[in-house]
Amino acid sequence: MTEPFTVAIDGPAAAGKGTISRAVADHFGFAHLDTGLLYRAVGARMLDGVDPVTAAMALQANDLQARDLRTAEVAQAASKVAVIPEVRAALIDFQRAFARRAGGAVLDGRDIGTVICPQAEAKLFVTASVEVRAQRRYQELVDKGTVTSFETVLADVKARDARDSGRVTAPMTAAQDAILIDTSELSIEQAVATAIAAVKDCH
Ligand code: CDP
Repeated sequence: MTEPFTVAIDGPAAAGKGTISRAVADHFGFAHLDTGLLYRAVGARMLDGVDPVTAAMALQANDLQARDLRTAEVAQAASKVAVIPEVRAALIDFQRAFARRAGGAVLDGRDIGTVICPQAEAKLFVTASVEVRAQRRYQELVDKGTVTSFETVLADVKARDARDSGRVTAPMTAAQDAILIDTSELSIEQAVATAIAAVKDCH
């Protein structure tokens, strides 16, 4: 397929968006953009003392690989810079250009189906209970060798959920026409199969 075809996958932290998005992109041969990395890269620059709006305007593709952006500290910083309208505005063009590239694209984030790509051909909202999400994120961090506790991770996820849903600009919410997938009781294989079937229906 050479036509653009956009799959928007939104949802809260550690709901399974990343795994599902990569699998959907592989299945259909689409490119994949984890938009959370954009906010994480800006958050990391803020932790270095750089003004977040300046950092967002200067963001380069290789900033997304330059360091470990998947730490709990960077996640919190990301959700703090993500409330700043000028930061969000600076990242829009890059995301929209990626979404409309020839051959199809999957973007995962919080506002893809609502703000970045309201015309996306397929929209999914992936969620799970906060306890299940915190347990998954806790396991990911432990597997990476991070020393933390389940309670700390749960509190972090809840704080980020509240900030992401409560902000004025582009709050995290399901688009009216999004297909909801609750992964609380699903294995990875089941969640991926459900998502692929949902995207096929939109083809
Ligand atoms: O991987 P995880 O779901 O934990 O988070 P992420 O997708 O990497 O996003 C990190 C933070 O970036 C989120 O908590 C949001 O505050 C922000 N974000 C956003 O505001 N809009 C997006 N499209 C993607 C992420």
